[in-house]
Amino acid sequence: MSTIIDGKAIAAKLRAEIAAQVKKLQTQGITPGLATVLVGEDPASEVYVRMKGNACQDVGMHSVKHTLPAETTEAELLTLVDRLNNDPTIHGILVQLPLPKQINTDTVLEAISPAKDVDGFHPYNVGRLMVGKPTFQPCTPYGIMVMLREAGVDLAGKEVVVVGRSNIVGKPVALMCLQQHATVTICHSKTRDLPSKVRAADVVIAAVGIPEMIKGEWIKEGAVVIDVGVNRVGEKKLVGDVEFAAAAQRASAITPVPGGVGPMTITMLLHNTLEAAQKTVASTR
Ligand code: GUN
Repeated sequence: MSTIIDGKAIAAKLRAEIAAQVKKLQTQGITPGLATVLVGEDPASEVYVRMKGNACQDVGMHSVKHTLPAETTEAELLTLVDRLNNDPTIHGILVQLPLPKQINTDTVLEAISPAKDVDGFHPYNVGRLMVGKPTFQPCTPYGIMVMLREAGVDLAGKEVVVVGRSNIVGKPVALMCLQQHATVTICHSKTRDLPSKVRAADVVIAAVGIPEMIKGEWIKEGAVVIDVGVNRVGEKKLVGDVEFAAAAQRASAITPVPGGVGPMTITMLLHNTLEAAQKTVASTR
C-alpha cells in the first residue's frame, strides 16, 4: 500500500509560512496585491478566480477581482492589463484562461509585465524556465515539484513519464524535472503504446484531463504517481486521470484527487505574488 501525498496538508503549511512573510512585508509598508481578471462567465473559471481571491485574503494579501463581459474586446482587455502593469498596489496579475474567441491569448499574456507575471506564462519567463534561470514558475508544475520534494523524492537519474503536453502543466513540469536531473519522457495523444511508457516510469505525472485513463496495472511497483486531473463524473464525484485504488496498490506514493495537486496550485500563486512584492522592496533599496 502506498503513502498518500497530502497536498492539503503541505499547502496549509506553506500558506502559514506565506502569511508570516506577508506580515513581515507589511511592517515595511507593503501589502502584496494580486489582480485577477475574468472575462465571460465560464462557471469553472468563476470558481477558480473566487478561490484565488479568498486564498489571498486568508494570508493577508490584497486582491482585486476584475470581471469583464464575454463580449469584451482584446483592446479593452489590453487597456486593463496596461493599467494593472502600472498600478503600484498590484504585484501580480492573473488573467484567467481560457479567454473568449475574439481575444488572442498570446497577445494578452505577452502584454502582462514579466515582473507581475505570477502565472509564469509570459514568453520571457517561459524562456528563463527553459534555460534554467530563476523565474516565476507556473503554479501547478511548481506545486508538483514542491510535493515531490516534501515526499522526499530525489529525481536525479529517475525515469519520469509526463502524460500530457500542455503549456500550463505538461511541458513546464517536464522541464522542471529535467532541471532536477531526471530522464524525462513526454507522452501525448499520438504516443504509441502508452502503457509500456508508463510501466517503465519511476515517477508518473498525469495531466491529460481524461477520467482514470492511466490504469493502475500500468504502474510499476514502487513508482511515485502524481495525478493532476480533476474530472467530474456524475453529479458530485471527482476523479483524477489515474485509476486511484488500483494504482495505490502498486505505487510507493500517490497524490489523491481531490486533496492532492489542486490545493498546491493556488498556494504557489500566493508564493509567486509574495515574491513579486518582495522584489519591489529589493529593487527600491
Ligand atoms: N486556467 C486553468 N489553469 C490556469 C492557471 O493556472 N492560470 C490561469 N491564468 N488560467 C488557468
